Amino acid sequence: MEPSGNLVMPEPASTLAPGVDALYYFLQGASIFAFLVIIGLLTLFVIRYRRRNETDTTPRIEKHIGLEVAWTALPTVVFVFAAVWGFHIYMGMRQPPNRALEIYVTAKKWLWQFDYANGISSTNKLVVPVDQPVKLIMSSEDVIHSFFVPNFRIKQDVLPNRYTTTWFEATRTGQHNLFCTEYCGTSHSEMVGVVEVLAREDYQAWLDAGGVDPNSQDLPLAEFGEILYTAKACNTCHSLDGSKKFGPSFKGLWSKGEEQLADGSTVKIDEDYLRESILMPAAKIVGGYQPVMPAYPNLQERQLNALVEYIKTIE
Ligand code: CUA
Repeated sequence: MEPSGNLVMPEPASTLAPGVDALYYFLQGASIFAFLVIIGLLTLFVIRYRRRNETDTTPRIEKHIGLEVAWTALPTVVFVFAAVWGFHIYMGMRQPPNRALEIYVTAKKWLWQFDYANGISSTNKLVVPVDQPVKLIMSSEDVIHSFFVPNFRIKQDVLPNRYTTTWFEATRTGQHNLFCTEYCGTSHSEMVGVVEVLAREDYQAWLDAGGVDPNSQDLPLAEFGEILYTAKACNTCHSLDGSKKFGPSFKGLWSKGEEQLADGSTVKIDEDYLRESILMPAAKIVGGYQPVMPAYPNLQERQLNALVEYIKTIE
């Protein structure tokens, strides 16, 4: 049977998960056991040693060395056992295997960008091969974010001006939720993504296709562009219905003909302008917006064409 989540823990999907879960269940079991013993004895003593009449006096209790040693030593053994066990798991989490695949993670308000060894990048979707240790080298462009994948049992703060790392080895293919778990401003709650675990061949095919589903590559340009609009997370900042997000809406952009820039000048909206705005977003900033868009220098030529063609179709 496939492992899945339960009321207490989400689906375990990494090599780290069984160890973390075992410790967690041990702590829960120990806590429930201690609760039952304490509350049980308390209830028993309240009934058994209750005051029975007006002249009842409290007996003088002499100390009992054996009992005192026992209730100090036994919990100590349990606590130290849990601490050593936890430290062992923690050390495993902190030390990625040498053969780990390295992926760079950049957090910024409010998206995740992933850069792979061959120049491919993806946004809000981390794609990894199954049964392969993956080391994430993470930094932030602005404030403190935190990288959290519950199914993998990993959580690591992502800081500006330095790298932090974490690693995992996914044990099953499929999609797993990714959250930012450090309050980082207005859209913190929308700073979510997925980790997609692919079979080894599918992962290689995904890389070869430039970071998209290989099957989408053969579609007509505008349809391919529509897929890229989501796959490259353009939708995070550019709406299709005219609403203002972090970037200008694509609705009616092409038919508008020209755009008012932040420096007061006007630019003609043609294919070259769209292309430049994708490859070097900071080159021309539209009036009323901030230069917050990440550059996409590694898009393949056909991907660029597809996005340009797609934007033209949004009326
Ligand atoms: Cu990034 Cu919360």
